[in-house]
Amino acid sequence: MTIIVTGGAGFIGSNFIFHMLSVHPGYRIVCVDKLTYAGNLSTLESVMDNSNFSFRKLDICDRDDIDKLFSEEKPDIVVNFAAESHVDRSIDNPEVFLRTNIIGTSVLMDASRKYGVKRYHQVSTDEVYGDLPLDRPDLFFTEDTPVRTSSPYSSSKAGADLLVLAYHRTYGLPVTISRCSNNYGPYHFPEKLIPLMIINALADKPLPVYGNGKNVRDWLYVEDHCKAIDLIIHNGRAGEVYNVGGHNEMANIDIVKLICKELGKPESLITYVADRKGHDMRYAIDPAKIHRELGWLPETKFSDGIRKTIRWYLDNEKWWKDIISGEYQSYYEKMYGGR
Ligand code: NAD
Ligand code: DAU
Repeated sequence: MTIIVTGGAGFIGSNFIFHMLSVHPGYRIVCVDKLTYAGNLSTLESVMDNSNFSFRKLDICDRDDIDKLFSEEKPDIVVNFAAESHVDRSIDNPEVFLRTNIIGTSVLMDASRKYGVKRYHQVSTDEVYGDLPLDRPDLFFTEDTPVRTSSPYSSSKAGADLLVLAYHRTYGLPVTISRCSNNYGPYHFPEKLIPLMIINALADKPLPVYGNGKNVRDWLYVEDHCKAIDLIIHNGRAGEVYNVGGHNEMANIDIVKLICKELGKPESLITYVADRKGHDMRYAIDPAKIHRELGWLPETKFSDGIRKTIRWYLDNEKWWKDIISGEYQSYYEKMYGGR
């Protein structure tokens, strides 16, 4: 079994690679990543010498390179994590989101059709459903909730999802889509809420909370997301969407206060800053379908997961300090420069 994992030098993709190599030791994993600012090859250092693992520095939008890759590797399964993933960056500069998230998806699916891939899996997001009001805790996103996006990021992910479903209907490509809530855990890039707050708090720097801090996200430990994708690519029904989430809703401000408490830092570090434009109020996933069909349930409680995550950032200072200094971008040259 050969699996192409795109975006594997990023947060969730790298955790997925670790999961797959440990749970399916007979599988070959080919990681494809362009190594944008969000890609960090040093994250994959521990698997670089695994004979079942290989890395290819490629842009998923490059049709010729992707075609050549598929002709050489003959993948059975493709799991597409590669994306521009940060909402704030999409508000600043939407174009690269449209290119990578939509065009890149079509390039991968065209190669998947041409080379007879048995399963193309698109890693999508709960953000395609837009947001829910804070005063209706009874409402959740199901797979039938209409797509109704807020940001250029979520619009690009929704565009890709529609294209994936169209390739299933029009060409019969065996696709699946997972729409997951906010992940947290090791190797989360330091510009996202949880790692940013941990790292700033450690340095006694201000903790910038957008708006009034009452926006709610539904947090899932990254390993639980990886297990869900593993189940979907093996047992999920082609043409189907699966929501993935942990029924773990938290207001941003409560997360930031919890991080302060765990690190013994004063809440006076919290600084309210201008709100994100178009800021979604609340995300909340109903994961009943993936539980019913595939038996998936989240395993890590938030109280345990957040402690493990904070511990990881304390124990892996070099990983995030290299990102802050920019040093991580020279890792590819060091690893591959002489090869
Ligand atoms: P990330 O930003 O940490 O990683 C993205 C990776 O994709 C990076 O390694 C980057 O170098 C690579 N990449 C970007 N453009 C590329 C291109 N053109 N060609 C090849 N590689 C490219 O993202 P993440 O948080 O790990 O998210 C992974 C996927 O999961 C994304 O599709 C995202 O939409 C989705 N998702 C994320 C979350 C979350 O909470 N982080 C939740 C649900 C879904
Ligand atoms: O819901 C899934 C999505 O979760 C994924 O599709 C995205 O790729 C991923 O980045 C994440 O998006 P969010 O916008 O929810 O994550 P972010 O960490 O950027 O922000 C989480 C919340 O915290 C959000 O309400 C904005 C707020 N925030 C964020 C930052 C970076 C702050 O208040 N201050 C900050 O400095």
